[in-house]
Amino acid sequence: MKVLVTGGAGYIGSIMVQMLLNNDHEVVIVDRTKNSTVEANKRAKFYQQDILDMAKLEEILKTEQPNAVIHFAGLISMEESTRKPELYFKVNTFGSLSLITAMLNAGINNLIFSSSAGVYGNTDVVPIVESGVKKPTNPYGESKLLVEQMLLWFWRTKNLSSLSLRYYNLAGASSDGSLGETHEPETHIIPLALQAAQEGAEFKLFGDDYPTTDGTCVRDYIHVVDLCQAHLMALSSLINDPRHDAYNVGTGRGWSNRQVVDTVKKITQKELLVKIEVRRPGDAAELVADSTKIKQALGWKPQHSDLAEIVQSAWEYAGKQ
Ligand SMILES: NC(=O)c1ccc[n+]([C@@H]2O[C@H](COP(=O)([O-])OP(=O)(O)OC[C@H]3O[C@@H](n4cnc5c(N)ncnc54)[C@H](O)[C@@H]3O)[C@@H](O)[C@H]2O)c1
Repeated sequence: MKVLVTGGAGYIGSIMVQMLLNNDHEVVIVDRTKNSTVEANKRAKFYQQDILDMAKLEEILKTEQPNAVIHFAGLISMEESTRKPELYFKVNTFGSLSLITAMLNAGINNLIFSSSAGVYGNTDVVPIVESGVKKPTNPYGESKLLVEQMLLWFWRTKNLSSLSLRYYNLAGASSDGSLGETHEPETHIIPLALQAAQEGAEFKLFGDDYPTTDGTCVRDYIHVVDLCQAHLMALSSLINDPRHDAYNVGTGRGWSNRQVVDTVKKITQKELLVKIEVRRPGDAAELVADSTKIKQALGWKPQHSDLAEIVQSAWEYAGKQ
């Protein structure tokens, strides 16, 4: 099938593009950035385009006529979103509305949306089920929740078929080790801890007074290859059974920040100088998925998401940079 991938020059998007191409799909990338990962996936057609330009998106969609769109393009820092909420609502929420409108005008009806565990915020019930309370603790999570709510209405009123995948914490590199996580600036714990270990630099751990077993935040880590596999399965499921739904994509196992630090030390065989800082604004205490729904609906299950395997994969990638 032909798939248009927004944000296909980014971390997850570029690995998704590689996986789609390896599975004989035709791929069109729309991203405002052209970088080396686009070059690495040169079998895909590339449009350097901001998703906020609805008319241009419509033109591209009418020309390309993809069977489906996977929408990764967006801003990703929960912390930054607490300082620049207007930017997050603009790019993540208006940008998605721009894409959805362009899709409707071009008659493209299938969308997989990159949502986030950030839609839930702090919750008393862990692991978190999809129908659980949603009270985001930062504008980033809210910007994603608003898109999910719009998607429900576009299904009800316009038959736009969509699946929102609520990712937990992503890390790791592509199966061939050629593509991995390089955000600028990096805000994610695994690449930051690996970088600190590599450089012998101080690693900042934000908050050790959370209501968790060791006081540090607890997250559910998922290998990017498992996540992309979930997208492949979601795509074919959506095409065969048009609907609107949302699935958690996590493992159901939580790891505290201290456990991540210990795993990084073990894998790298290096010392890590940990400095405890105050809590970062917008961080929820514990985000762990109940992923029963996606397992039942798509038959998906994580194959590479043990924390040690994820850290090993990210470490090998970091060594090549
Ligand atoms: N990385 C994670 O742990 C994580 C967790 C949950 C959800 N997500 C979601 O997954 C998606 C991809 O995340 P990522 O880690 O690959 O991020 P990334 O920053 O590596 O990639 C995002 C891509 O989107 C592009 N982009 C941003 N704004 C754009 C715009 N206005 N027009 C066109 N392109 C634009 C960027 O150029 C970049 O290539 C995001 O929507 C993010 O919110 C990521």
